[in-house]
Amino acid sequence: MRKSAAGPSLLLALTLSLIAGTGFTAQAGNASDRTNDGPSIVLGAPTGPENCGLRDGGCSREYRYGVMVWSPETGSQPVRGAIRTAWAAEGAESGGLGYPVAAQTCTDGNCTQTFERGAITRARTGETTVQRTIDNAADAAVVVNKQRPLNPVTYVPENLVNVEGQQLRSDAASALQQLKDAAAADGVAMRVMSGYRSYEKQAGLYNNYVAQYGQEVADTISARPGHSEHQTGLAVDIASPDGTCSLQACFKDTAAGQWAAANAHRFGFIIRYPEGASETTGYSYEPWHLRYVGTDIAGSIHSQGIATLEEYLGLPPASDY
Ligand code: DAL
Ligand code: ZN
Repeated sequence: MRKSAAGPSLLLALTLSLIAGTGFTAQAGNASDRTNDGPSIVLGAPTGPENCGLRDGGCSREYRYGVMVWSPETGSQPVRGAIRTAWAAEGAESGGLGYPVAAQTCTDGNCTQTFERGAITRARTGETTVQRTIDNAADAAVVVNKQRPLNPVTYVPENLVNVEGQQLRSDAASALQQLKDAAAADGVAMRVMSGYRSYEKQAGLYNNYVAQYGQEVADTISARPGHSEHQTGLAVDIASPDGTCSLQACFKDTAAGQWAAANAHRFGFIIRYPEGASETTGYSYEPWHLRYVGTDIAGSIHSQGIATLEEYLGLPPASDY
């Protein structure tokens, strides 16, 4: 890729770059790259002004052969060609893939670019392929809802560890321990009600709810097997030690519920089924159901004031199966 660019046009671009100032460059960068008055080696001359206000304080600028995208986390990265088209179709920085984390690299005419949550490949044949971590049951960014069963539906996570008589994936368990320690330091205690649930266990729970309330109501409070976040090992239901409002909406008014709502994001958790979001999530308000997604996503969802994981990732609502 670099070899084919190393002709007179590259020399010209370098010369122009030196004359015009630093400008965006093709390399992965940091905030100091975000100057905008020069041409880019891989994108040519700028064709428009810098446009800020992108997610998480990002900016972009159109160039002759593509767009330069900058965020405080990822620095300046060029996106161009068929990969740019595929990235835009995924919702660009506000979609499933997030920001680019490197420039595209090519070998034998096959080019790949990595993003915060996946990669896009443009084969020599012209075909583009999108890989998204949100589709991977083993990734902390996986999205599971009524429209998105686990793959496979009987998925069992690795690295389950014991937490208060329940199980969680080890990364979620470590984060939960830190959350609980921080809450305890603030004088707030909480306990774990439910963590990992196997396909079979979820089937039993769901069937009990159907028998008790009928399927329509059951579907607003319980996931069908293969569709529960609990099956990923990344979801945990918390409660107050005295059981006040356990698994009820009024849990939000308890010290534990309020502390979790205000602080869970700092430890990589989100309140996955917020109040008033059932048209998107498919479930009633569950202030007790915390989902580990990692601090990047949880922090961004919190700071951007976005209600649901679906909206954050540009995914369609999943109110029903
Ligand atoms: N209560 C949540 C939706 C579950 O069953 O996974
Ligand atoms: Zn739950």
